[in-house]
Amino acid sequence: MRFLIVSDMHGNWDAFDTVLRTVEPATYDAILVLGDLVGYGAAPNRVVDAVRRLPGTVYVIRGNHDKVVAEIDDGSNFNFAALTAARWTTERLKPENLEYIKQLPQGPLEILPGTTICHGSPLDEDTYIFSNYDAYEVFEGSQAWLTFFGHTHIPSVFSVDSNGIEVGVLRGKSGSLTLKPEVRYLINPGSVGQPRDRNPKAAYMVYDSEEQTVNWYRISYPVEIAQKRIRKADLPRVLADRLAMGV
Ligand SMILES: [Fe+2]
Repeated sequence: MRFLIVSDMHGNWDAFDTVLRTVEPATYDAILVLGDLVGYGAAPNRVVDAVRRLPGTVYVIRGNHDKVVAEIDDGSNFNFAALTAARWTTERLKPENLEYIKQLPQGPLEILPGTTICHGSPLDEDTYIFSNYDAYEVFEGSQAWLTFFGHTHIPSVFSVDSNGIEVGVLRGKSGSLTLKPEVRYLINPGSVGQPRDRNPKAAYMVYDSEEQTVNWYRISYPVEIAQKRIRKADLPRVLADRLAMGV
């Protein structure tokens, strides 16, 4: 089975639309959405409408921004820009889209035996996996062979075998990784709508569970249109500025 994996769209329709138009539907059998559909970006309804309309087998879990927008979490740990955008999003989401965000399940979610998806970490949806120390705790505290996670907005691979933990950052336009049965993995596809690895291009992944390959991709999208929407909506300017820098 081949899975298209997208995460952290953050209301950035121009990025998400570009990904959906670029990836040939014939190249995947199911879609995994790792949370944070909304928050930061100024086109939340377009993104949620598109996720709700995705065809075929689709697994979606909630992210921390989805929780704040749905008022499941009060956002007290958010910075000013994030909280402002979350409040703005709650007010503007169509009732059916707000309802959809409210009912999104919490990860981790097992999509195949031994393979799970989560937003932050399989142990806590709000926790970031940035370092080998973070990965150590997750490998110790979870059983899955392969976990796809989001939240950090950084395309990355953490792996562990009898030699210890290895940390890999996925750089460049595209690349491929072949998974080994004796190694356990934590893999982040990066963010569609707000990349933070100083590469402003939208990130996504395709996982083939028969070939055991993970392919990652970065594509250009009309950043200036996404920025214009944010400025027009009177959201904090930093949310527009950062998109061009990929931070
Ligand atoms: Fe996020």
